[in-house]
Amino acid sequence: MDITFLLNGETRRVQVTEPTQSVLDWLRSEGLTGTKEGCNEGDCGACSVIVTDESGARPLNACLMMMPHLHGRALRTVEGLAGPDGTLHPVQQAMIDHHGSQCGFCTPGFVVSMASAHLNGQTDHDELLAGNLCRCTGYAPIIRAAKAAQDAPVPDWMLDHPVDLDAAVLGDEGSSTAFMPRHSDELATWYLDHPDATLIAGATDVGLWVTKQLRQLDQIAFLGHCHDLQTIEETADSFVIGAGVSIAALRKAMAQAHPSFAELLRRFASEQVRQAGTIGGNIANGSPIGDSAPALIALGATMTLRRGDLRRTIALEDFFLEYGKQDRAPGEFVQSIIVPKSAPGLACYKLSKRFDQDISAVCGCLNLTEEGGKIASARIAFGGMAGIPKRASALEAALIGQPFSEAALSAALPALEDDFTPMSDMRASSAYRMQAAKAMVLRYGREDSGQVSILEVQP
Ligand SMILES: Cc1cc2nc3c(=O)[nH]c(=O)nc-3n(C[C@H](O)[C@H](O)[C@H](O)COP(=O)(O)OP(=O)(O)OC[C@H]3O[C@@H](n4cnc5c(N)ncnc54)[C@H](O)[C@@H]3O)c2cc1C
Ligand code: FES
Ligand code: FES
Repeated sequence: MDITFLLNGETRRVQVTEPTQSVLDWLRSEGLTGTKEGCNEGDCGACSVIVTDESGARPLNACLMMMPHLHGRALRTVEGLAGPDGTLHPVQQAMIDHHGSQCGFCTPGFVVSMASAHLNGQTDHDELLAGNLCRCTGYAPIIRAAKAAQDAPVPDWMLDHPVDLDAAVLGDEGSSTAFMPRHSDELATWYLDHPDATLIAGATDVGLWVTKQLRQLDQIAFLGHCHDLQTIEETADSFVIGAGVSIAALRKAMAQAHPSFAELLRRFASEQVRQAGTIGGNIANGSPIGDSAPALIALGATMTLRRGDLRRTIALEDFFLEYGKQDRAPGEFVQSIIVPKSAPGLACYKLSKRFDQDISAVCGCLNLTEEGGKIASARIAFGGMAGIPKRASALEAALIGQPFSEAALSAALPALEDDFTPMSDMRASSAYRMQAAKAMVLRYGREDSGQVSILEVQP
């Protein structure tokens, strides 16, 4: 397959013989070794690059991106940050001025993330740099440098435009090894004929199958050019979120209607991973510790699955059958998630060892409604408490009809033990998980009554 993209402003056409080759490996094989390999799993940000497409410029981890992801896009690496005459980018100069680098290994990743924020006029540096790790300098000088550069004009060489896909060359588009549909209709037809193929959206999960498990993926389809899967439509009472919507875009879309869900998504991985990872991938992977599922289940979301021309819509909680098993037929893919617009009672809690860039040990989402001082309805879902994201049905039943009070919430807590027998692993012990889940329920009551009883961890 031949792909076409811009590399630091120059058009490149590359013959891709191994579609799962990471952009990081390719760059380094081309001698562009400024982009570093630290973890090779999306955790350190040393491999950060800027990718521009129709939706704008964003920082991504090159270690999780596969070569076909680049098709039609503009890629800017650390080598492309300085101007053609060698003038340093304002963030590079600021890193020098503010002593933001010691050994320098992390520095290319940092300056690329900073340049991406600078390009987009973003100034929430703590949050945007949470996916970049530095072992020796300490973050204070780096944040100082980011602040010092934030008001400098964007250098004109940084303004990339994506390649016109209709004009771009993509040889062997229908190859049996890697397929790049431009619409979900094309995907539906192809997937029916290739039901054993692996679908790749953001590759923030699948990338690790390749880099860490060294899995050989024989037939693959890249969903990144199915723009019809990347839309968010609003109806009178719901959001219809395409499976290809990124976690970053979802967070933005949820900010007003479901601020607690949006805050939860802020704690989802790092900016680089949120920009690549999709909601469809987060649901389809069936993970018991994925962050979006508990919130969506508590919201009463449904999902539409498509197989050929057939579409069916099911409650999200019914998709997760048991660990590693979902209600998805061969050749069927996730088309969209339908989220109710109104849920004023929703609160989402993520417990992880680190505040930023960490997987949940327990994720609890509660959505109760009250009528006449009594609990009228309850949707409560947890991640990290079972082999699948799961509703706490016994707790819900114990709560309905009870007064909305801390005493009633507390009295219902033993029901959680009927709902869950959590496992012990390196993230948390079974007993700790159960205790934390109960604490989330109590916290919900205390927050609702306006008591400031919990010390919120702030970044
Ligand atoms: C460093 C790091 C941190 C992370 N932190 C978090 C975190 O805090 N919280 C969290 O929940 N997750 C986290 N993840 C996991 C991952 O980012 C998410 O699960 C993400 O949403 C996956 O989306 P994707 O588009 O990258 O999926 P991909 O990797 O492309 O695919 C994942 C799975 O979904 C399938 N798939 C994708 N799209 C579809 C579709 N439309 N229909 C059917 N199947 C489909 C693929 O075949 C594959 O089985 C993290 C990952 C990394 C690398
Ligand atoms: S090498 Fe660590 S995020 Fe890519
Ligand atoms: S300067 Fe050494 S890791 Fe950051």
